[in-house]
Amino acid sequence: MGEKAQPVLQMKQISKSFGGLRALVDVDLDLYPNEILAIVGDNGAGKSTLIKVLTGVYKADKGQIWVDGKIMKIHTRRDSLDAGIAAVYQNLGLVDTLAAPANIFLGNEPIKHVLGVPFIDNAGMRKKAVAILRDRIGIELPDIDEVTRNFSGGQRQAIAIARAVNGAELKVLVMDEPIAALGPEETRHTLDLIRSVRERGTPIILISHNLNHVFEVADRVFVMRGGVCAGIVEVAKSNQREVLGLIVGADFGEAEPASLPQSA
Ligand SMILES: Nc1ncnc2c1ncn2[C@@H]1O[C@H](COP(=O)(O)OP(=O)(O)OP(=O)(O)O)[C@@H](O)[C@H]1O
Ligand SMILES: [Mg+2]
Repeated sequence: MGEKAQPVLQMKQISKSFGGLRALVDVDLDLYPNEILAIVGDNGAGKSTLIKVLTGVYKADKGQIWVDGKIMKIHTRRDSLDAGIAAVYQNLGLVDTLAAPANIFLGNEPIKHVLGVPFIDNAGMRKKAVAILRDRIGIELPDIDEVTRNFSGGQRQAIAIARAVNGAELKVLVMDEPIAALGPEETRHTLDLIRSVRERGTPIILISHNLNHVFEVADRVFVMRGGVCAGIVEVAKSNQREVLGLIVGADFGEAEPASLPQSA
């Protein structure tokens, strides 16, 4: 995968402290076009803090964020969205009583004027919602006009992603623990969804505690420990043992029986 391509996103030397607690120390992260980059690490390792710096929830004490080779000033959520970075969180933030199009365009509804009077363009909104779901995510909802509460977990996930990819030109989709609260079937749908979004051209940062999921969908794994990057591995050239070793700071990989010399 495009190691030689220009990264879509670069976080450089990011540091963030909370009082005396150094949550992030000189963290460098690159995200390449079309890749799924997983971020893993123990509780308190700094994963969410790094993402909150990226999405403008926290302002870093130090460091830079570059998007498509341009340095960005990200001090607010708005700055982050304007830079083409959107995040989907575990709670999804959908309004259950609204249909999918209204959720996707919440606060950002297309307007049409009739005799100079502005109205929400419901037909236009519906059409655009169908197109976003089809073209950016690769799914078709059975009934787009159904209220959101009646959709499955995987479908709700798709609606939340559609909201994130709508609007600003999306360059990076961030998903913080999207699978934590889902059953096996919903998990399967969500993993398919993540792959499908990437196949349609959006690179993804996926935070997950589940190494099975990570090894199933990610291209690279960015391991955090104690506020620093403990290592970055390519999924195709690594294994869960190696990643676990990086997470806890012990070298399990060397102890793998299969890798011991036969004559030992
Ligand atoms: N708003 C805050 N104020 C003070 N300390 C914070 C704040 N947010 C995070 N921290 C601390 O920063 C460190 C990193 O936390 P962070 O939430 O980034 O970890 P994480 O890797 O996302 O963990 P988890 O897997 O539990 O979600 C922790 O020690 C945490 O207690
Ligand atoms: Mg977290």
